[in-house]
Amino acid sequence: MAVAAMAPGGLLRARAQEVVAALDVGTSKVAALIAALEPDGPPQVLGCGVRASAGLRRGLVADMARTEEAIRAAMMQAERAAGIEVESVLVSVSGAGLGSEVTSVTIDIAGHRITEADMERLLLAGREEVEARVRATGRTALHAEPALYVVDGLDGVADPVGFHARQLAVDIHVVSADTPPCRNLDLAVRNAHLDVDGIVAGPVAASAAVLAPEEAELGVAVVEIGAGVTGIAVHGGGVLAGLASVPMGAGDITADIARAFATPRAAAEKLKTLHGAATAAPRDNHDLVDIPPIDPDDGPEVRRVPKAELVAVIRTRLDLLFREVDDQLAALGFRGPAGRQVVLTGGGAELRGIAEFAASALGRSVRIGRPRGLAGLPEAQSGPAGATLAGLVLRAARPAIDLGRIRPRPRGTVGAPAGTAWSRLVEILKRQF
Ligand SMILES: Nc1ncnc2c1ncn2[C@@H]1O[C@H](COP(=O)(O)OP(=O)(O)OP(=O)(O)O)[C@@H](O)[C@H]1O
Ligand SMILES: [Mg+2]
Repeated sequence: MAVAAMAPGGLLRARAQEVVAALDVGTSKVAALIAALEPDGPPQVLGCGVRASAGLRRGLVADMARTEEAIRAAMMQAERAAGIEVESVLVSVSGAGLGSEVTSVTIDIAGHRITEADMERLLLAGREEVEARVRATGRTALHAEPALYVVDGLDGVADPVGFHARQLAVDIHVVSADTPPCRNLDLAVRNAHLDVDGIVAGPVAASAAVLAPEEAELGVAVVEIGAGVTGIAVHGGGVLAGLASVPMGAGDITADIARAFATPRAAAEKLKTLHGAATAAPRDNHDLVDIPPIDPDDGPEVRRVPKAELVAVIRTRLDLLFREVDDQLAALGFRGPAGRQVVLTGGGAELRGIAEFAASALGRSVRIGRPRGLAGLPEAQSGPAGATLAGLVLRAARPAIDLGRIRPRPRGTVGAPAGTAWSRLVEILKRQF
């Protein structure tokens, strides 16, 4: 990514390919992060910025001007902290009907040894397949990543070059979203004077930050509870196996509290985060919490109710949420021994006792996922609510080949293998191990 470092006297010093910027545009907050990619260590955070977002509903841009404003303010704060001006960002999307599918393409090799040119041909065939699907469904392919190579039916071949084969195939994991919300998000970011390097599905980004590679290998579901949307990403065999989203989130708990006790939203939010819990405690019938009235002129001031009543309202909503999550997990085929582990993340995972609640509601073992893998992540972004933002940076640091972006080499280019999609993939794999 091209950036310019702000030096005294207004001189702009160009620094290419060293710095990445990420933007998590969520229903409750817009968060920006700038990090330096280090050759021998984790990305180093240079600056962060956060703004409350008022222009989104269920992860979708509902008010363009307010969204732009929050994006600009969050990024400006991060830029100031980093002393760097950013030109382009990787952005996450939480709403927009996320989904994923695996598609496969096969090419003939006719018995000779697979060459880099064959790999290039395969990846370009994959790209055509993805484009055809996009055209047919009208959806947007956010990322389309080649996963498993299959040489004459033998799957899991990491580097097929040099193998004798009749046929070569690849599984392509396509993450897709509804097109209009992605366009609106893209527009909001561009209106805030930033180029968009790419849009990543929120739960996919969060997964990159909270999962250990072995977990993704063995089978795990990441459930990211945002304010307006709960995203689900299922992993198995080290690759993304399914993606879904439920239009319900921790903001619904706040709304329920506000309704149940006739108190302002801001007070309900405070009640939830300060006194709320997903599990009941014996003292809850004795402990009282203060409920400010909606309109102070309208009757008695502060009421007091047993904490047990607050916990009951929270648990009623969580019952609904985890029933939906369980249905989605079943629909994604997350069952059996590989379907036992769930990682909860997103701001909603900060609620006291939610891991215990989820473990009993889902009948699975549940842990809370906090972002890891970045150096210097500020305290405020180190909780589950910071997972998506951190994951965007980690994905930018470990880019995968995206079939939506590769282009055939111009005709007549003689095989400088450094330019082929395949050799770039090999380079990326080498960097990871
Ligand atoms: N300590 C806490 N206890 C309970 N809930 C919390 C706590 N901290 C944050 N939350 C909730 O987490 C939600 C915000 O989560 P997050 O930042 O992941 O959402 P978002 O990215 O803005 O929204 P979305 O991803 O749905 O578009 C809010 O509803 C907030 O009330
Ligand atoms: Mg979010």
